[in-house]
Amino acid sequence: MIRAVYPGSFDPITNGHIYIAERAAALFDELIFAILINPDKASTFSQEERQIMASEALAHLPNVRVKYFNGLLVDFMRQQESRIIIRGLRALSEFDYEFQLAQMNRQLAPEIETFFMATDAKYSYLSSSGLKTAFRFGGDVSEMVPPGVYARMKDKIRRNDK
Ligand code: PNS
Repeated sequence: MIRAVYPGSFDPITNGHIYIAERAAALFDELIFAILINPDKASTFSQEERQIMASEALAHLPNVRVKYFNGLLVDFMRQQESRIIIRGLRALSEFDYEFQLAQMNRQLAPEIETFFMATDAKYSYLSSSGLKTAFRFGGDVSEMVPPGVYARMKDKIRRNDK
């Protein structure tokens, strides 16, 4: 039984994240979609909202479970008895940050491996923060997120900006 963990802020989940989750779920017996709850960093969506949006968006994948964590990722990994971290890569520019993260995690927990998965070219531009900015200024982002997320964005982001 091989269990992998796909960690991130997922604020909110996008079609790019779903694409990586689908491909990882096809490779491993179980995938934990792990949402970081960082009490020191403001997020647009609450823990509960992020969890609901992710659960809805990944409901078609029976071997994916959505959970949240705070503190160190490697502690969560050990708690979940998983040794594989999945990270999606969009562009080479992300490599420095991702490599640093992977090496820090290796230093903290040498038994854990980070697997990088390439996103689909059609999602290479897509990020949660870019998406929110585009939406805030009236851009059409309906093709970038699942319908449930789009509905919540309309409700939350534009309302807050009024
Ligand atoms: O979606 P993100 O924000 O790029 O995800 C980053 C994440 C959640 C993977 C990373 O910030 C993380 O693992 N945070 C938990 C704290 C931790 O373990 N840090 C150690 C490595 S510096």
